[in-house]
Amino acid sequence: MNYHNLKHNLFRTAGKLREQNLRRILYSCLQRPFHKPGKYPTDIVIETASVCNLNCTICRSVKADLGRKNRFMSLALFKKIIDDIAPICNTIGVSYCGEPLLNKDIFNMIRYASDKGMCVSMLTNGISLNAEARKGVLDSGLNFMAISMDGAAKQTYESIRIGASFEKLVENIAALVKERHQRKLSHPSIDLQMVVTQKNLHEVATFEKLARDLGVDRAYLKSLHIDRSREDVEYVQYLEKDYFVNSTTLPSRYIVNESCRLELKDKGLCPQKARTPVITTDGNVLPCCFDIFGEYLLGNVTNQRFMDIWNSAKYSDFRHKLAMHRKLPMCANCLPSDYKKINKILF
Ligand SMILES: C[S@@+](CC[C@H](N)C(=O)[O-])C[C@H]1O[C@@H](n2cnc3c(N)ncnc32)[C@H](O)[C@@H]1O
Ligand code: SF4
Ligand code: SF4
Repeated sequence: MNYHNLKHNLFRTAGKLREQNLRRILYSCLQRPFHKPGKYPTDIVIETASVCNLNCTICRSVKADLGRKNRFMSLALFKKIIDDIAPICNTIGVSYCGEPLLNKDIFNMIRYASDKGMCVSMLTNGISLNAEARKGVLDSGLNFMAISMDGAAKQTYESIRIGASFEKLVENIAALVKERHQRKLSHPSIDLQMVVTQKNLHEVATFEKLARDLGVDRAYLKSLHIDRSREDVEYVQYLEKDYFVNSTTLPSRYIVNESCRLELKDKGLCPQKARTPVITTDGNVLPCCFDIFGEYLLGNVTNQRFMDIWNSAKYSDFRHKLAMHRKLPMCANCLPSDYKKINKILF
């Protein structure tokens, strides 16, 4: 381990000490003494649920059959994945094409990963955050929670997040913030995010005020993605016409080109350096979160070790020759290389 890596690891460990107990820190450090940056995944998304209790207008994943055999990932498979990846990756997300809070084992999953020193984040619609779920969240060791709120007024929010109740969401967030405070916990950090569209762009200031009033840690705006991986003309046209915002000041990943088509603002190398694999509820390993239909299957962790899949010639070639250089059809439409600059942090 060179000096730079050692320094990096010491800073990371010092940060973790504020949050976690010594046993977990030691476990994590012993597992990864020779972690080489650049060689392994930066983070791994594990799809704990592929179904949802909402039907958001902008969400592609609930409008098509994704072909998953399992609606929920089993606890046994999740644990197997964590055991596989613990030596090489310490950052995971538990949300992908569905709502993670619907998985009955979600808090046991997070606790298991957390006890192995992992930093765990969850993106949720927040609708199921009742008293029991809030306790589960606070007991689980979850590090980051981002809650999706695509409107700051009841009418706007409920017209996009079909099936949700604005009052219920606000009540759940307020209660979670209060209970975290009462228990004197600093985790999880609680963020609110809004995908900016024509429907809600007039509510940005109200969204920021609401987020501040609720006492969350951060609020930010994200850009709309229009999935074209399996041409669904109706979905694409609907989003282009009624949702896409052509703006230089608000988050928008596309520009309108000379042929009046939407094109990514900047198409350099893969924004995720081809190092953010996804594992679906069925255990399929996919290259990134833009492959929702699992077209680029790289292996399956139910019968293979994750590291064998990652190091296979198939994945290695795929990573270096195709994904990294945006040579897959979905790469033309995913995210600009500097997408972090495009998202707008309000506070
Ligand atoms: C697919 S959801 C899964 C997690 C959870 N169900 C939720 O809504 O937060 C993950 C995120 O994708 C966002 N999303 C859905 N459709 C989108 C689109 N067309 N463009 C950009 N973000 C989108 C949602 O707002 C949400 O924040
Ligand atoms: S809550 Fe999340 S997964 Fe469910 S429909 Fe909305 S964006 Fe999609
Ligand atoms: S779609 Fe292509 S460029 Fe975009 S994140 Fe995935 S592999 Fe990288």
